[in-house]
Amino acid sequence: MTTDRSKPRILVARAVFPDIIDRLSRHFAVEHNQGDAPWGPAELAVRLADKDGALTTGSERIDAALLAAAPRLKIVANMAVGYNNFDVDALAARGVVGTNTPDVLTETTADFGFALLLATARRITESEHYLRAGAWKRWRYDMFAGAEVHGSTLGILGMGRIGQGIARRGAHGFGMDVVYHNRSRLGPELEAACRARYVGTDELLATADHLVLVLPYSAASHHAIGAAELAKMKPTATLVNIARGGIVDDAALAAALRAGRIAAAGLDVFAGEPEVHPELLALKNVVLTPHIASATVATRRAMANLAADNLIAFFEGRGALTPVNAVRGA
Ligand code: DGY
Repeated sequence: MTTDRSKPRILVARAVFPDIIDRLSRHFAVEHNQGDAPWGPAELAVRLADKDGALTTGSERIDAALLAAAPRLKIVANMAVGYNNFDVDALAARGVVGTNTPDVLTETTADFGFALLLATARRITESEHYLRAGAWKRWRYDMFAGAEVHGSTLGILGMGRIGQGIARRGAHGFGMDVVYHNRSRLGPELEAACRARYVGTDELLATADHLVLVLPYSAASHHAIGAAELAKMKPTATLVNIARGGIVDDAALAAALRAGRIAAAGLDVFAGEPEVHPELLALKNVVLTPHIASATVATRRAMANLAADNLIAFFEGRGALTPVNAVRGA
């Protein structure tokens, strides 16, 4: 609830660690959503109408209509590194600063990308379901025989900080050959540190035994992996998506997995999440997790604190710490 009217007014759109609310309340009049009841665009617009700033998550769409209903709003601090929930042009048009939470989640998210790769290639969840269902009666030579990870070829699409973290884990920890594609090629020092080789997308798709997607979502990356791309992959390959739903065409992926055009997929993100394409839910050769790649207590705390730091620094006149757009005075 909102209390002190002499301070800037902040909306915290989703539940967050209680001490973050306490911290923000020392600086702002805070209205929060600790009950975590989902607020649709209409309710969000009403609640933002008198706010100077907001702490959001990737679930809240901040677009022109919402900004028009929030004339006092100066900053939106996303508790996520991805900010495809922001219409950045609309933010710029209204002079509103958007911020995200880079760096603090890089290693944790790379850990999870690797965990999902291993779970998928080594069929961990599928075999656990089998065991729990009481179906395990004896050892068999080919029981849940999966794909080799060590010494295989790791493909990475999107070579930002998280992609580089996955490359380092693959190259140095698992002796993998790492190939990557990115909008811009890394410098030689970073390539050497990641032991990664830059290739075109066709070579990436054709050579990867395990392809991990870590690119940001945008109109340009929508369905970057569809039927045509899946057809170029090895039939033994695994696909891992820890980036965003919508980068993969889920229907095409389900069809490819059903037909054995690729072996397996590990997915942490989905188009229209929390809904998951029903055909993916029906398949055994998919590991599905509910958008938790950055979910360790320490990292989620660091993300929440960085979002709060951005709001505090901005309203103290020090400028936002991690802006995603250039706004005068930010
Ligand atoms: C991020 O930080 O972008 C994660 O996907 C959580 O939303």
